[in-house]
Amino acid sequence: MSLATSNVFPVSFIEAESLKKTYTPRGASPVHALDGLDLAVPQGTVTALLGPNGAGKTTAVKVLTTLVTPDSGTAVIDGIDVIAHPERIRPIIGVSGQYAAVDENLTAFENLDMVGRLYHLGASASRARARELIELFDLTEAQNRPVKGFSGGMRRRIDLACALVTRPRVLFLDEPTTGLDPRSRLGMWDIITTLVGEGTTVLLTTQYLEEADQLADSISVIDDGKVIAKGTSDELKASIGGQRVELSLVSPDDSTAAREILVRHGSGEPTVTADGRALTVTADDAPAALQRILAEFGSSGIQLFDAGMRRPTLDDVFLKLTGRSATVDDESPATTKKKAKR
Ligand SMILES: Nc1ncnc2c1ncn2[C@@H]1O[C@H](COP(=O)(O)OP(=O)(O)OP(=O)(O)O)[C@@H](O)[C@H]1O
Ligand SMILES: [Mg+2]
Repeated sequence: MSLATSNVFPVSFIEAESLKKTYTPRGASPVHALDGLDLAVPQGTVTALLGPNGAGKTTAVKVLTTLVTPDSGTAVIDGIDVIAHPERIRPIIGVSGQYAAVDENLTAFENLDMVGRLYHLGASASRARARELIELFDLTEAQNRPVKGFSGGMRRRIDLACALVTRPRVLFLDEPTTGLDPRSRLGMWDIITTLVGEGTTVLLTTQYLEEADQLADSISVIDDGKVIAKGTSDELKASIGGQRVELSLVSPDDSTAAREILVRHGSGEPTVTADGRALTVTADDAPAALQRILAEFGSSGIQLFDAGMRRPTLDDVFLKLTGRSATVDDESPATTKKKAKR
């Protein structure tokens, strides 16, 4: 499904073209945080910006949320020029930043109530909205405690809740689930999915491939300040082609010999994990390649711990496009395999 046909609103709600932003820290060489970034997010959809540390994700969000002025390029949200009219953008957007921006000394309830009042919702409407969000984010127990005593996960939740006080039509979420435990992450995904179902347009950044896979209608892979690939999760996986044959060895001493066998039967360079135990290779006809590989392992006496094949994951896409893994822990293909089998 292409971006153009995957939704009923053909016009992009968020549009950025050729955004550039260079930082020149004193005494250091310039950093091109954004180097010609293009984005188009249709209304009522989720677009994920997926990229490694330093790719420019937060800078892109800062530009689109009026916190940073780009050196050049254009950004438009709902037909409003972000750079020329930041004051018209701020009332229609909600932002939950990479680092929670709540008042530490206020309670969860007071933070939400304060945001409502800052946006002139009125006293009783602010309180009512605060109560609604406390419930939605499962913060009832903690609502009267100062935020400074909150855990990281609770902070993420109160921060997102604050971004939703005004029911914004467009929501920017910079790594919304970093630091959340698996249950809280699923809860956050549910909330985001519900908001999108209600018509909210979401741009989120993430380093979790699985998150982009689950939530996003479209994924823009960014690296060095520009989009290096975009499409649905399936399109991106299909774009790199081929299935993967994966093997793990009983002994890393067999790594070199095993690699040579994979070179003969796969297409392209095999990847080998740092410990030398797990190897992966792309193959156009994976079942046939796997059979041939197993036969050669048998005759060479290489002992296998595990062998199998799988379709490409978003991690493979990332690895292929950027030459490195996108996952936070810089996971090896072996760890990725577990994830893919989830
Ligand atoms: N205020 C700043 N001054 C100098 N350099 C900056 C500033 N903000 C960002 N950068 C640099 O710009 C580049 C992009 O940073 P950015 O925060 O946008 O990356 P990111 O993709 O959000 O990374 P992460 O995954 O670590 O959050 C990095 O090299 C960063 O060091
Ligand atoms: Mg960031």
